Amino acid sequence: MTKVKVLFVCLGNICRSPLAEAIFKDKVNRKNLTSVVEADSCGTSDYHIGDGPDSRTIASAHNNGVKIHHYCRQLTVDDLEEFDFILAMDQSNYNHIVRLASGEEHIEKIFLMRDFDDNGQGEVPDPYYGDERKFQEVFDILERSTNRLLQHLEDTVLK
Ligand code: 4NP
Repeated sequence: MTKVKVLFVCLGNICRSPLAEAIFKDKVNRKNLTSVVEADSCGTSDYHIGDGPDSRTIASAHNNGVKIHHYCRQLTVDDLEEFDFILAMDQSNYNHIVRLASGEEHIEKIFLMRDFDDNGQGEVPDPYYGDERKFQEVFDILERSTNRLLQHLEDTVLK
């Protein structure tokens, strides 16, 4: 059976992308798709390598009933080979990933997370300097976007 590997990417890999990974994995679990869908997250920067998620990210996940467990790592060139779908949280992350790509087969794997948001477009806002409300806004965007992403995978590669 086809197996699909999904990578969520932000700047620090302590706020948006580990939250996206946690929400997405929760959905994969609920749909009994863990044997066919894998997910990971990473950052374009090296600021927080080895760190767990930000305490506000953990609070946001837990407040919304989602388990989160991740240690920060930095994006590598190999990730573009390894993963089938690469979701950038914002345009700067997207541009960074594209710079590491070495051909069309890499480029066509890279999307903006909010390409999958039915309620809006553009970027998942960076909540690092924001308050709890900003983290909830990010959670809600990621909830919608990962929902449709998983539906898209089920309708295309997993069907
Ligand atoms: P993230 O948020 O990219 O969603 O993980 C940030 C985390 C840390 C920093 C910036 C954004 N920072 O500058 O350390």
